[in-house]
Amino acid sequence: MTIEEINQKVFEEIGKCKDLKTLEKIRIKYLGRKGELTNILKSLKDLPIEQRKKIGPISNNLKKLIENALDEKRLYLISNHELEPLDLSLPGKKIPHGHLHPFTTLENKIEEIFSALGFEIVESNEIETEYYNFDALNIPANHPARDMWDTFWIKNDFQSKNKERFLLRTHTSPIQVHYMETHQPPFRIVSPGKVYRYESLDASHDIQFHQLECLMVDENITFANFKFIVLSFFQQLFSKKINVQFTPSYFPFVEPGVQINISCPRCNQKGCSLCKNTGWLEIAGAGMVHPNVFKAVGYNPKMWRGFAFGIGLERIAMIKYNIPDIRLFNSADLRFIKQF
Ligand code: DAH
Repeated sequence: MTIEEINQKVFEEIGKCKDLKTLEKIRIKYLGRKGELTNILKSLKDLPIEQRKKIGPISNNLKKLIENALDEKRLYLISNHELEPLDLSLPGKKIPHGHLHPFTTLENKIEEIFSALGFEIVESNEIETEYYNFDALNIPANHPARDMWDTFWIKNDFQSKNKERFLLRTHTSPIQVHYMETHQPPFRIVSPGKVYRYESLDASHDIQFHQLECLMVDENITFANFKFIVLSFFQQLFSKKINVQFTPSYFPFVEPGVQINISCPRCNQKGCSLCKNTGWLEIAGAGMVHPNVFKAVGYNPKMWRGFAFGIGLERIAMIKYNIPDIRLFNSADLRFIKQF
């Protein structure tokens, strides 16, 4: 194309152009790297000086005119034609927003149930001394029951004043001692929190998990009070009729010690993989508070009676929400979280 031809065509094309895409094509056709006008500008250097003096300014001028025309047209298209008409009846864009972790939802629900039953919710330390985690709970050093809890010990440089060793609490039971040291009965408390075990990981074991400790102390507490609280709690938690069974067990801080079993809420005792066809699920360790624990906190064991239990909260969440692997809770896998 000659300069004249370009001059004739380009402005007509820009004038007719109706959208930004075509406008861009026109720009490339004339001003692109291999564009018509670009070619002429590139070839200027090969022309004799006389011609160059004539054609040079003309083509540079034309380039400016084309650029201006393209800019103007672009603005025109953007402001007049390219905007989509606004349809107010279309559904809005979904704004993603977060929600509570299933575990938090469960914890809130559990606290709500116990509050309604008159329990105070208290929290306690995750770093404990050997005394609170073991000795005061009637588990002296060298007692074989210490093997029940694989412990994370904290390095000796952090020994407490009386040279006691620190550890990450292996259960929430130390709260019993802390609370009784600073309060007088009657009272009823629950205490949820993190606990730590030096264990190998699998689908039902994690090194960090949550327990809920329950303790009720009064003058005449009996197993009947105990059973009522446990039943009320589980029936409200699973929103259905649940049967409860106590079987003998051993924990040094209770006497008698029991294991609480609940009827399997998934199959209603018909038998399923969750309850391994037994119809029952082992759900908590429990018992009547041992006189030695009362003595350790300065209570008269002849005067006071109490029950206590400790439940694994992940286990409850796994049963309630059908979660197959405990490691999913802390996996930060959004595909898991988003299901709830
Ligand atoms: N602390 C025990 C554990 O982690 C569970 C437990 C058993 C808690 C009996 C209690 C209890 O309060 O009375 O294995």
